[in-house]
Amino acid sequence: MYSYADLEGLLKPGKIRLNESMARHTTFRVGGRADALCLPETRYDLVEVTGWASLRGIPWLLIGNGSNVIFDDEGVRGIVIKIRGSNPANDTLWHLNKDHDLIHAGAGVSLARLAWFSAACGMSGLEFGSGIPGVVGGSIRGNAGAHGCELSQTIESIELLIPPNTITTISAVDAHFSYRHMDIDPNAIITGAVFRLIPEEPELIRDRITSFTEYRKQTQPSADQSAGCMFKNPSGDSAGRLIDVAGCKGWHVGGVKVSEQHANFLVNSGEANTADTLRLIDKVRDRVLIEMGIELELEVRILSPEVA
Ligand code: EPU
Repeated sequence: MYSYADLEGLLKPGKIRLNESMARHTTFRVGGRADALCLPETRYDLVEVTGWASLRGIPWLLIGNGSNVIFDDEGVRGIVIKIRGSNPANDTLWHLNKDHDLIHAGAGVSLARLAWFSAACGMSGLEFGSGIPGVVGGSIRGNAGAHGCELSQTIESIELLIPPNTITTISAVDAHFSYRHMDIDPNAIITGAVFRLIPEEPELIRDRITSFTEYRKQTQPSADQSAGCMFKNPSGDSAGRLIDVAGCKGWHVGGVKVSEQHANFLVNSGEANTADTLRLIDKVRDRVLIEMGIELELEVRILSPEVA
């Protein structure tokens, strides 16, 4: 037998939370409770927690900023490991350093911080990430993109932890990137990455970040109440445009609504739950299929209670 309380000996105080609401840890702010939430700071913490779980046959899963994921209303059985840092610090999962034309970033660094750090270093290529509400690890997993760019274009290498304790580095080619997707060992945990960027005047880089930010403000609802784009873009088109033309803007189920600003965003009025969100997703998908003949594919991960 085991008790989740035993996890408390593995990490610093406050870094294990039992019976924790996932609504507090996702940007869409829905979902029930996880048996335990772990907030590791280092690779060593990750080895400890995943090792503890494996020995006891307890499932675990990883999230970054919780910006592209929706948990079931029943929550999730097992351990959720959240990798999100605040201030950069060496030897943690949120290290951030420049080395010639390379930027080294830990998996828990937010893309916004990475973009502004690169700008301050006079290194261009990550400006598009400034408005993406994810962290490096999760964003690499989903090959996040915006403004015609995606992360894979700047990645030199990716550092992985393959439980129980293998640390390895793969090149971008070995990650087999495609649109919003990468193809690596599903058990591998991304712990950091190296980005190869292009030197440029910081002022010009900052200007690009500012204009991207302005575009997002004008065309998208705030990240605080959504999970970003709900569906992937079908080849050569915008899912948002298709949903809009199909007439779904403003549709709602309970407290979840198709954004009037950008139809590929579902927004949480504050009263949303996952069941209503799934109903609205189905309605939108059905309407787009009937009206436009296109089957939309989810970009956001919907997690069931027995996911891991
Ligand atoms: N459009 C509409 N109605 C809408 C939304 C969009 O007609 O409700 C039209 C726009 O007017 C524009 C076209 O569709 O002509 C494309 O719109 P937008 O520039 O907003 O780009 P998108 O293809 O809808 C993609 C990414 C976004 C990213 C933006 C900006 C995907 C699924 N979406 O959206 O990424 O921020 O470009 O670069 O790839 C995300 O991945 O979570 C995400 C939000």
